[in-house]
Amino acid sequence: DSQWIDAADEDGVPEDDVIGLQVAGKDLALYKVEGSVFATDNICTHGHARLCDGFLDGYEIECPLHQGKFDIRNGRGTCAPIVDAVRSYPVRIEGGRVFLKLS
Ligand code: FES
Repeated sequence: DSQWIDAADEDGVPEDDVIGLQVAGKDLALYKVEGSVFATDNICTHGHARLCDGFLDGYEIECPLHQGKFDIRNGRGTCAPIVDAVRSYPVRIEGGRVFLKLS
């Protein structure tokens, strides 16, 4: 059975922005759009770039290296050169904390 992990303070995730953080040995990106928090792996599936260094536009994160884009709601690539989705994780908010299901 997979566990919910207490990952961050909800207020620590800025609205319409992305932050990177380490949780349980994973490099993750957390996003907040219209008050909802989303989580994906932080490393782009195309090359070694961190999505938290990219640009968030609505529900799309643009990779800083070659401007590939992912939908932060499901991790799917939305334009070239992205072929593989980035992994996304279920998020639950409770008591002002962000909980993630990582497995
Ligand atoms: Fe992200 Fe190339 S490393 S688009």
